[in-house]
Amino acid sequence: MNEKDIAGDLEEILVTAEDMDKRLDEIAGEIDAYYQGEQVLMIGVLRGSLMIMADLSRKLSTPVAMDWMALSSYGSGTQSSGVVRILKDLTEDIKVRHVLIVEDIIDSGLTLSWLVANLETREPASIKIVTAVRKSEAVCRMNVNADWVAFDLPDAFLVGYGLDYNEKYRNLPFICTLAEHVYTS
Ligand code: PRP
Repeated sequence: MNEKDIAGDLEEILVTAEDMDKRLDEIAGEIDAYYQGEQVLMIGVLRGSLMIMADLSRKLSTPVAMDWMALSSYGSGTQSSGVVRILKDLTEDIKVRHVLIVEDIIDSGLTLSWLVANLETREPASIKIVTAVRKSEAVCRMNVNADWVAFDLPDAFLVGYGLDYNEKYRNLPFICTLAEHVYTS
C-alpha cells in the first residue's frame, strides 16, 4: 500500500519510508555496539511492532531470537488505563537472557510500564526497549525509559508502519496523519 492508495484519506506524512530506513540503520549500529555480540531475545508486542521487528532485526549483526506477546489494555475510548491482560504470552523462558522489547508506539506509556514490570518478575539478565515512535506526551508521563527511539512525534493520531485505525493502514510504509473525514464518516 502506498500514498496513491490512500490519497483522499491522507493528511500529512510525518516519517517517510526512507526516513525510517535511515534511522533504523543508526539504531541498529547503536544496538550492535551495546550488546557486543551477546545473544539477544527480541520481544515484539503484537500487532503493531511487526514492521519494526522485521526491518530492525534484519539490520542487526547481533545474533537474535524472536518471540511475541499480545496484550490487551483496558481503558475508556482511546485512553489506556494501564490495566493490561496477556492475550498471548511468550513461548520462550527469558530467565538470565538479554531481552529487547520492540514496540511500534509508546503513547501513554502505560502498556510498556506494565510489561517491563511483568517481565522483570521472570528474572531476565537485562531489559532494553526500542520503539519506532514515542509520543511527546509519553516522555514526561512514563516511568520507564525507552533506550532507542526512532522518532519522537507530536500527540496526533498516527497510522502506518504497523499503526492502525480500525485495523486499516498498518501496511503503509510511512507514518502519517489522516484527514478528518476518515474519523467522522
Ligand atoms: C499499541 C502499541 C502499544 C500500545 C501503546 O497497541 O502497540 O502496545 O498501544 O499505548 P500506551 O503507551 O498508551 O499504553 P494496541 O493496543 O493499539 O494494539 P495493536 O498493536 O494490535 O494495534
